[in-house]
Amino acid sequence: MKTKKLIGSEKKYLMQTYGRPGMVLDKSEGMKVWDLEGKQYYDFIGGIAVNALGYSHPKLVQAIKNQAEKLIHCSNLYYSEPQIILAQMLVKLSCGDKVFFANSGAEVNEGAIKLAVKYFKEQNKDKHKIIYMKNSFHGRTIGTLAVTGKYKCQKDYLPLLPKFKQAIFNDLNSVKEAIDDQVVAIIVEPIQGEGGINIASKEFIEGLRELCNKKDMLLIFDEIQCGLGRTGKVFAYQYYNVEPDILTLAKSLGGGLPIGALIAKEKIASSFKPGDHGTTFGGNPVACAAAIAYLKVLQEENLIAKCQKKGEYFKKKLEELKKKYPEYIKEIRVLGLMVGVEIKKDGPEVVKKCLKEGVLINCTAGNVLRFLPPLIVKEEEIDYLIGVLDKIFKKM
Ligand SMILES: Cc1ncc(COP(=O)(O)O)c(C=O)c1O
Repeated sequence: MKTKKLIGSEKKYLMQTYGRPGMVLDKSEGMKVWDLEGKQYYDFIGGIAVNALGYSHPKLVQAIKNQAEKLIHCSNLYYSEPQIILAQMLVKLSCGDKVFFANSGAEVNEGAIKLAVKYFKEQNKDKHKIIYMKNSFHGRTIGTLAVTGKYKCQKDYLPLLPKFKQAIFNDLNSVKEAIDDQVVAIIVEPIQGEGGINIASKEFIEGLRELCNKKDMLLIFDEIQCGLGRTGKVFAYQYYNVEPDILTLAKSLGGGLPIGALIAKEKIASSFKPGDHGTTFGGNPVACAAAIAYLKVLQEENLIAKCQKKGEYFKKKLEELKKKYPEYIKEIRVLGLMVGVEIKKDGPEVVKKCLKEGVLINCTAGNVLRFLPPLIVKEEEIDYLIGVLDKIFKKM
């Protein structure tokens, strides 16, 4: 009854930008959530790669509580300790030297675009073009839409930033063709998330680095979805032995609180001068305290190594399912706990059936079932999901 009433009010009072199923999530524990009617769900989409510690990790909750009691917000007019500690931790973990904090993925990618342009402006080079990949996703602001290789997202807002150029993911020649003397940067997700869990080849990423070095362009890695442990390494770029000039993070960083980080090498970061970029909420003390807790728990609980092992287990189970249903499953793409199963048809139908069986998953890029479970997922929970998929495929 309450569910129906709430959803009725949602239709009335919220802009209808999302198509959501008819339940209202209410409470959570570990990787499970319950709706208002008391139905339990195993969450295999994890708030779209955000709830990497699950829903209520005690250390995360405690860190948020402690900081909220001390200082909730102070803006960037003043220093605050969590922001400085978090920046130091991120610099130690990554290949970057300096950090700018914002509140979301799109915001840090906007910052990355601005920083790349400013870096060349500082050298009196007036260029603006960014090369991005087909099927990429970098956000929904006007700037980040312009580098998002999904026409479906762009079409109603054209013209965006018309100088930006699209290339083909994993096709170095297409990138070479897009280069001219106006290009400041190439932006790429080492593992495309929204694009359907597409894993960049080593040759592609190495080739991009080489091209950027040769042609005086910056390499931006968007690790908003794939970074911070999800692939079984702290950063996905570590699989390639290639360092970006600029790195963007968000999603799991705050363990569920909104925060994004734009990280860059010193010589690039220093092109931002006071007043060049800013945000009221970015680097908020509570969000930073949550992110500090997230990074600590990753290490203390050895979650990254565990994630790699669980990913292998997940992949093995999916391969068994593929053998059983070759007429349904086309391809399995897995890196750590970033898992995509491309099926031949009816992706959205499978998502609906999973929901009925108490499992939350999502379908992206047509028919790719996407699984981004919390890194704390247990093998038994993976088994449960596999059982549900088996049952669904059998009936279909
Ligand atoms: C790789 C990537 N970049 C950027 C974004 C945008 O992040 P946000 O939704 O926090 O703006 C997303 C969101 O899905 C993403 O997956």
